[in-house]
Amino acid sequence: MSDTKILVIGACGQVGTELVENLARTFGNERVIASDIREEASFPVKYIKLDVMDREAVKEVVLQENVSEVYHLAALLSATAEKHPEYGWKLNMDGLFSVLDLAKDGHLKKIFWPSSIAVFGPTTSKQNTPQYTVIEPTSVYGISKFAGERWCNYYHQRYDVDVRSIRYPGLIGWKSLPGGGTTDYAVDIFHQALKTGNYTCFLSEETALPMMYMPDAIKATMDIMAAPADKIKIRSSYNVSAMSFNPQDIANEIRNHIPEFSIAYDPDFRQAIANDWPASINDEEARHDWGWNPEFNLEKMVSDMLQNLNQNSIVKI
Ligand code: SER
Repeated sequence: MSDTKILVIGACGQVGTELVENLARTFGNERVIASDIREEASFPVKYIKLDVMDREAVKEVVLQENVSEVYHLAALLSATAEKHPEYGWKLNMDGLFSVLDLAKDGHLKKIFWPSSIAVFGPTTSKQNTPQYTVIEPTSVYGISKFAGERWCNYYHQRYDVDVRSIRYPGLIGWKSLPGGGTTDYAVDIFHQALKTGNYTCFLSEETALPMMYMPDAIKATMDIMAAPADKIKIRSSYNVSAMSFNPQDIANEIRNHIPEFSIAYDPDFRQAIANDWPASINDEEARHDWGWNPEFNLEKMVSDMLQNLNQNSIVKI
């Protein structure tokens, strides 16, 4: 751990913002570098502007800063990638190759790269979706994540690259906002519930999707990276699960805290993306191989979200 030097790429996103904080707490501020495409950002650690598609620039940072581990989070999410398919594919794939190749050439010891439940498609069984199943993604994002998973596995088998990955479900947190995802409603709903008391959801009321509270997502990310290499049996990407709910379920749970909260439904193009995804995930391999165990269910998550958004004056009624 003493010579670990971490680079987080895509640090300004929903996961990055919180992951950098946690990595800095665990490894020390001087052992973590945050990077993103933005000119400037405020982190408790060094920040470097970095375009992950610029292979030379990534290599320069890795060599100059003696980086040993990369958490590569930069990606276009499902809804945005549908609007910009070519760019989505390019960003999601080029970025991954630039990092995988650095590890292949001996410049990195370990890589974390997230995949997603978006790898699953309409031909996958929807309930309790297993690790190994039919995988026919329909969205650009899903196709890029599935291709990425296969490349991670390939680089591990062929070049012994220590790459680790989990398939994030929809992620919910109060410290940062998601951008361009199909599961973003599950964050927006809290902000609107506190601000206006009502929310119009872009998915229909019965659209159940796998979700996870951010502290669990960070824990899963840190846990899989901390596990001994021989415990990581799956080098494509692990299913991880915490909770599953539809917009009506979460609205009802919010109503337990804010009785006057109301929800309406006005599905848009994101409904078609969600329709092809699983409702719930079976994650027995992650539990067995590296001890994955989530802490938050729907009830606990809703109560914690509302308390934090209120207390930290992010949104107040
Ligand atoms: N949260 C992502 C999205 O909605 C799924 O990984 O695109």
